[in-house]
Amino acid sequence: MAAIDEKTITDVALDQMSATPNPRLREIMELLVRHLHAFAREADLTPEEWLAGIKFLTAVGQTCTPYRQEFILLSDTLGLSSLINSLHDRRSVEVGTKTSLLGPFYRQGAPRKNLGESIASPGDGAEICIYGRVTDVAGKPIPEASIEIWQSDDHGFYDLQKHDASEMDLRGCFHADRDGRYWLRTVRPLGYLIPLDGPVGDLIRAQRRHGFRPAHIHFLVGAPAHRELVTALYLRNDEHIQSDTVFGVTDSLITETKTGDAESPLPNLPSIHFDFQLGAASSREESGRVGADPSQIVRHPVLVSH
Ligand code: BEZ
Ligand code: FE
Repeated sequence: MAAIDEKTITDVALDQMSATPNPRLREIMELLVRHLHAFAREADLTPEEWLAGIKFLTAVGQTCTPYRQEFILLSDTLGLSSLINSLHDRRSVEVGTKTSLLGPFYRQGAPRKNLGESIASPGDGAEICIYGRVTDVAGKPIPEASIEIWQSDDHGFYDLQKHDASEMDLRGCFHADRDGRYWLRTVRPLGYLIPLDGPVGDLIRAQRRHGFRPAHIHFLVGAPAHRELVTALYLRNDEHIQSDTVFGVTDSLITETKTGDAESPLPNLPSIHFDFQLGAASSREESGRVGADPSQIVRHPVLVSH
């Protein structure tokens, strides 16, 4: 038995894990242990600081419910979700529209809507139109592509954050027409504070960060034989467009509403025109969603196969 000290512990721990039969689990856990130990050594972490970390992560877990995912929020605010998105994009066989964060407010089962319908309820805010096309990377239309959309209301709250979270609002699932065209009505989104009433909020305040996301609308676009696209459109004139707390903004996803757009199917409304490009699916079946409906994570917590 080797003497355990701050230098030998890493190899001793790795040795004990080396028989892990699942090769990817073995690789990931090896890297995790290596980097975690290197972090503790570099920070010269004290027992008090270690315990503060444990308490923090415990609180993060205790804040999770079927309607709230504090761990995803933590990942988002650390830039980890954005990094995972970029790594996912790099593996793409064709470069389509850039991905952005799924965020903690995605819900499965959004109401099915017809083209031109609104996802908003009366009183949600000033109406706008969003329209465009879904194509492949060569610009060929993708007929019947599915387009899920969700956003906050004009006070910056998602339906999940409201008292009656069982009701869906400002969400919808559309299908493009035979020429890949889509158009829908919604309300102009407002920038908002990420949920700051939990442990992640405590951390954000301790770091003197503003906690805002610039105004945006989420999209999940899919079609058979194409890579599912998780993205969001951001509004240029938002004051936090350059300092998103969760690092979701990228130049190509910045849009603006135009008035009097004669091309718009609903020209009387301010409109956003955005065309989505989907890359081909890779042969390896994989999900591009950096996140999930929070109720699914609570219900199906086991991710590691043995
Ligand atoms: C959102 O856009 O819904 C979101 C993303 C990350 C953290 C908080 C909110
Ligand atoms: Fe959002």
